[in-house]
Amino acid sequence: MMENNMAQATMGAKLDALPNKPGGGPAASGGIKLSSRDVRVFYGDNEALHGVSMDVMANEVVAFIGPSGCGKSTFLRCFNRMNDTVAGARVTGQITLDGRDIHDHAIDVVQLRAQVGMVFQKPNPFPKPIYENVAYGPRLHGLTSSKSELDQIVESSLRRAGLWEEVKDRLDAPGTGLSGGQQQRLCIARAIAVSPDVILMDEPCSALDPIATAKIEELIHELKENYTIIIVTHNMQQAARVSDRTAFFHLGDLIELGTTSQIFTTPKQQRTEDYVTGRYG
Ligand SMILES: Nc1ncnc2c1ncn2[C@@H]1O[C@H](COP(=O)(O)OP(=O)(O)O)[C@@H](O)[C@H]1O
Ligand SMILES: [Mg+2]
Repeated sequence: MMENNMAQATMGAKLDALPNKPGGGPAASGGIKLSSRDVRVFYGDNEALHGVSMDVMANEVVAFIGPSGCGKSTFLRCFNRMNDTVAGARVTGQITLDGRDIHDHAIDVVQLRAQVGMVFQKPNPFPKPIYENVAYGPRLHGLTSSKSELDQIVESSLRRAGLWEEVKDRLDAPGTGLSGGQQQRLCIARAIAVSPDVILMDEPCSALDPIATAKIEELIHELKENYTIIIVTHNMQQAARVSDRTAFFHLGDLIELGTTSQIFTTPKQQRTEDYVTGRYG
């Protein structure tokens, strides 16, 4: 039932509204998109994340910052249940997407991961043509009924990812032959192709040069119109440039969450201040 509704919602969004606001149904406009309550993550007996509660609003960009090993990636992976795929990992607490518990047994995890897409640190296009990289998800999810519809999704996804002009004449070339920055935009196009609501990005620029990084940051600005974005970054200037709110993590705790300007100019917690002023980390 819920799976059907989700599939229909995704399809409807894609078919009717891809050029405008994919995945942006009524629940997506302005309200709470994601919420976590007392989320803990254990790797074996080791508790790596100590009860994190926060809300993420629709169409905002939230940055996760903090020293290496503080649990940013671990927490990020909770939002699309990627920790399910990590051997020995166990998640407790509650996470909701549009008010629905993502751990509910009725949730289809494949569908969830389409709705909450992910972009990783190292661009990881499939060893397939550019076209196929983007077409893969819509095919898998049965989102199209004709080749022309699929062509249209591939084009609009590549356009949204700011890559179309660079690749439109070589869609049959392998995705792995692109530059690092182009590969990362291809991965963003691949995520967009299945009409997500949320895009999770785990240090998406740390393998890129400054020009490619600037392009991705520009893209994030454009994408937030249609998507909710959480970005993990070790680069505080990047967090300051791209995010509306920033969450500072330390040793598995969420220490402080606030508007990005507040976190960087008037942090309330000493540990946040120490970190953002470069005193450690
Ligand atoms: N697959 C794993 N198995 C065991 N421990 C892990 C695993 N992934 C992360 N950890 C541990 O969890 C803690 C948080 O890691 P992580 O979420 O990767 O931090 P960050 O992304 O902030 O650098 C670290 O102590 C790390 O060693
Ligand atoms: Mg990490």
